[in-house]
Amino acid sequence: MPRKYHLTVVGAGYVGLATAIGLASRGHSIDLVEVRNDRLGALQAGQLPIHEPGMDAAFANPEIRGRIRPGALIPDEPSDAVLICVGTPMDENGRSDLRQLQGALEAARPHIRAGVPLVIRSTLPAGSSESIVRWSGGDSSRLFTNPEFLAQGRALEDFLAPSRVVIGTFPGPDAQALSVVEDLLGSDTCPVMVVSVIEADLIKNGSNAYLALKLSYANELAVLCEELGADVITVIDGIGLDPRLGRGYMRPSFGFGGSCLPKDLRSITNVGRDLGLEMHVTSAASDANDAHQRRFARRIVAALESGKGRVAMLGLAFKAGTDDVRSSPSLRVAELLLGRGIEVVGYDPHAGMNAAAALPGLRVVATAAEALQGSSVAVIGTEWPEFRQLDWRALGPTMASQVVIDGRRLLDGPAMTALGFSYAAVGAAGVPQINRTRQSARP
Ligand code: UDX
Repeated sequence: MPRKYHLTVVGAGYVGLATAIGLASRGHSIDLVEVRNDRLGALQAGQLPIHEPGMDAAFANPEIRGRIRPGALIPDEPSDAVLICVGTPMDENGRSDLRQLQGALEAARPHIRAGVPLVIRSTLPAGSSESIVRWSGGDSSRLFTNPEFLAQGRALEDFLAPSRVVIGTFPGPDAQALSVVEDLLGSDTCPVMVVSVIEADLIKNGSNAYLALKLSYANELAVLCEELGADVITVIDGIGLDPRLGRGYMRPSFGFGGSCLPKDLRSITNVGRDLGLEMHVTSAASDANDAHQRRFARRIVAALESGKGRVAMLGLAFKAGTDDVRSSPSLRVAELLLGRGIEVVGYDPHAGMNAAAALPGLRVVATAAEALQGSSVAVIGTEWPEFRQLDWRALGPTMASQVVIDGRRLLDGPAMTALGFSYAAVGAAGVPQINRTRQSARP
């Protein structure tokens, strides 16, 4: 029978919750430490503080929930391992802000007994290991990193069935501590790599930056297709038939977001620059992502009569399946529109409250119908499937003008056109010059 551990998980964000719930579902018991009162309150009331489909169901299971004890402080009772899962958000200079990590490591320090591993699952910028050793008390032999590769919306699934497990070690790791980490986080179903901490950081940063490169490229192709009158989906389908290239992770849009990709792209660029290296590729991909979002905002403005009117932004989360709005392309575009004095009304099935808090000028309403009513342009900003199910036939006439700009290639273009909409989409063939089309259609 596999050993059951008593663990401390610090941080109840997406990573910490997936880690705690995943480990609890394997029978381990967990002290889950969270300093934010709103998150802790929800957990203590038996609710998840975030929207994550698979996790909601697992946390509703009394057996799993019963193994997780939420609290504000690291308890005195000994634990078999301490896992740090706090955020390392991007600061205003495009560098990882490690203050939460420093606080968590310093708080964990007095609680670590000999032989107990301290595992950092937070994303680290490559080259930050010296500070981490210092904050954790100077003994690096029982300090490990274990970067996570969780995608939000499927975080628990990714934790339970990872594509690989990477364990970062410092020179001369404590054998007992390492064996606990391997036993706890290793896997029989995927490769397990035990590498240096720097290699582990680079595998994590490098993976996310690579994913971001693919998307910047797909989105650049989309722009080219719009100008040339081609359909980017067809083009990417054709490219993807080359087995060296593949079709995965190439869904075009007007920009990518979230808490990881934009951050890791900038982080790897800055790490290289600090070493005096010119990071041509990653730096260009960041700039491209910014340019794609700006271009999309300009397309929306061009679809408004004399640049005036109200825009309905359908979808505010950075992608479907989450309530997270960090670096959300929809919010960035809404911000650009608001900056030009254009009214934006937003709707999202799960991220409304987070969006309203993140972008004060945005009016967030409770239904898509409310957002559409009186708006001149509807924008699909997030690929929520429910936007496909909307009764567009009935909703169209409630709009000031029936214009839809689909930033996610979600809707059926010909069907929308048949319903009388002027429909445009990213990377779509024959993207209409909406303003001109509509004006020339007038008597
Ligand atoms: C990502 C990585 O997938 C994950 O492995 C890592 O651990 C954390 O970062 P996440 O940020 O949750 O996960 O979301 P992901 O599904 O990768 O999407 C990131 C952004 O790219 C979103 O804005 C999404 O809409 C966009 N995207 C993704 C596309 O535009 N097209 C795609 O084909 C895939």
